[in-house]
Amino acid sequence: MKVAIGCDHGALALKESVKKVLAELGTEIDDIGTYTEDSVDYPDIAEKVCEKVISGEADRGVVLCGTGIGISMAANKIKGIRCALCGEAYSARMARAHNDANVLALGGRVLGPELAGDVVRTFFTQEFEGGRHARRVGKIMALENK
Ligand code: RB5
Repeated sequence: MKVAIGCDHGALALKESVKKVLAELGTEIDDIGTYTEDSVDYPDIAEKVCEKVISGEADRGVVLCGTGIGISMAANKIKGIRCALCGEAYSARMARAHNDANVLALGGRVLGPELAGDVVRTFFTQEFEGGRHARRVGKIMALENK
């Protein structure tokens, strides 16, 4: 699986620790930045990561900012993206099993590396359950065309 990942200046350290977990899981990682402490705008990062997912260049995405809130809001504005902001493993499991989330958002100023590692391992190993959940996800996607 190929994973596109990107963060703003509020989550540089967490991005590096998440990349280690993704590497342990055997994923191919495409890090689109940011790479320094210089301030950047998280919507630009969300757009770059999500474009990779939409184009099929990446199978899934991980986006990080200080809280994870702004970057998840931005990601969810992009057609085809179902971004879930997760602060613990149960939400990550449900985001995949029930919501078929294709992008995970994390808060670099909220989560420590251990908890974030649990979230990432869960998100990238849980399959979508389909069935009644597919109908509901279809309804989410239909909202994009209203
Ligand atoms: C940047 O200072 C901060 O606003 C951003 O990382 C994020 O927390 C926004 O939601």
